[in-house]
Amino acid sequence: MTLPISLLKKINDRSAIIGIVGLGYIGLPLAIRYAEVGYKVIGLDIDSNKAECIGKGQTYIEHIPDTAIQDAVKQGFEATTDFTKSAETDALIICVPTPLDDHREPDLSFVIDTLESLLPYMRKSQVISLESTTYPGTTEEQLKPRIESTGLKVGEEVFLVYSPEREDPGNPNFTTQTIPKVCGGTTPNCMKVGMALYDQVIDQVVPVSSTQVAEMTKLLENIHRAVNIGLVNEMKIVADKIGIDIHEVIDAAATKPFGFVPYYPGPGLGGHCIPIDPFYLTWKAREYGINTRFIELAGEVNSNMPEWVVGKVTQALNQHQKAVNGSRILILGIAYKKNVDDMRESPSVEIMSQLQNMGATIEYSDPHVPLFPKMRNYQFDLESSELTVDKLKQFDCVVLATDHDLFNYGLIAQHASLIVDSRGRYHQPADNIIKA
Ligand SMILES: NC(=O)c1ccc[n+]([C@@H]2O[C@H](COP(=O)([O-])OP(=O)(O)OC[C@H]3O[C@@H](n4cnc5c(N)ncnc54)[C@H](O)[C@@H]3O)[C@@H](O)[C@H]2O)c1
Repeated sequence: MTLPISLLKKINDRSAIIGIVGLGYIGLPLAIRYAEVGYKVIGLDIDSNKAECIGKGQTYIEHIPDTAIQDAVKQGFEATTDFTKSAETDALIICVPTPLDDHREPDLSFVIDTLESLLPYMRKSQVISLESTTYPGTTEEQLKPRIESTGLKVGEEVFLVYSPEREDPGNPNFTTQTIPKVCGGTTPNCMKVGMALYDQVIDQVVPVSSTQVAEMTKLLENIHRAVNIGLVNEMKIVADKIGIDIHEVIDAAATKPFGFVPYYPGPGLGGHCIPIDPFYLTWKAREYGINTRFIELAGEVNSNMPEWVVGKVTQALNQHQKAVNGSRILILGIAYKKNVDDMRESPSVEIMSQLQNMGATIEYSDPHVPLFPKMRNYQFDLESSELTVDKLKQFDCVVLATDHDLFNYGLIAQHASLIVDSRGRYHQPADNIIKA
């Protein structure tokens, strides 16, 4: 098998044109990174708003500044909904969503639709990389046969790799460049091209022997988190019954310099990854007659957390001779984790919904989410309330659901009559603070 010398040369001298398909939380920073080192980048998305924003140099993701997009545009970054432009690219990197369907099974429709839109324009000497999180076997079983149905031979004429994304939006300690990236190829030639493609923009690219290994690596990382968060959420309930503060326990255990990694309890899992990805493996494991019991159990514990927090709100109000029904309740933080604007799968919203169904009047405050967005399963016609002394005094209960750094915790503790803290933000016991 001969090496694709001309493609490798274009990648290495940065004359290759990079196509990024799906310009969301993953695709946009990657596009910016390729532009930053001098590549011409074409972004492809079905969302015309995103293409328009990029054309105007405007961001649509809070932690990515306008200037980063403007600088990339100056380098030749353009975004479009016109998939014929993919014919101009030498590399196509697919970063589209991989959610679960209504039966909590993998929904690969975004990946397949994307590929189908690209196939008519695919040509010899292109490399295709899938970054979306998925079950082991997706690249080999779903992408390769579709690509080869065009007559192009993978590993000889086009090159196919899987390289999972590890972005941690809002984390100031890591960037796209500094997070090591795993890469697996369909053939040795695919691997060489994939490594060359990522070596140009990522400090450390970690080769693995196959696309399946790369796919499962990503799932292991996220399952590891989901299971450990499930464990610590269960510990929290035990500690609560005994009358121990779980956060004090975790902080003490974390002083052990080996063999312990701290995970923190909370109101439930959120985001596009941790609540969803583990079930991609559960689905695949069933094909082999295996029940992924750790994953299921962690899912069960974690998905009960919003209800547990609601139980704490009920008890707390009860202690003040109040019922949830008729109470005014303020939810602090509706993004799924602190300091970001991402609402996907946010447990705060499930808490809001359960309390509203019980008859509470709900408001929220979140400096990162000024307007309650359109969501598939929830609807609230609300905008973020500004946290003032007068505002805080209006509520029977304040639920700290997401502990953004922008909240004034001293002000809240001083003026809220009752706080249910699901994040362990308040360390000192106080009459008006209930830990959940
Ligand atoms: N967000 C994270 O922190 C994170 C971290 C690691 C891995 N991932 C994985 O990366 C993948 C992408 O996640 P994301 O957070 O960037 O999603 P996102 O929803 O922010 O972005 C996806 C983009 O794909 C576009 N899109 C959808 N269908 C398309 C199609 N047919 N053709 C072209 N574009 C299409 C959407 O319009 C959107 O702009 C997922 O598999 C996710 O699990 C995400």
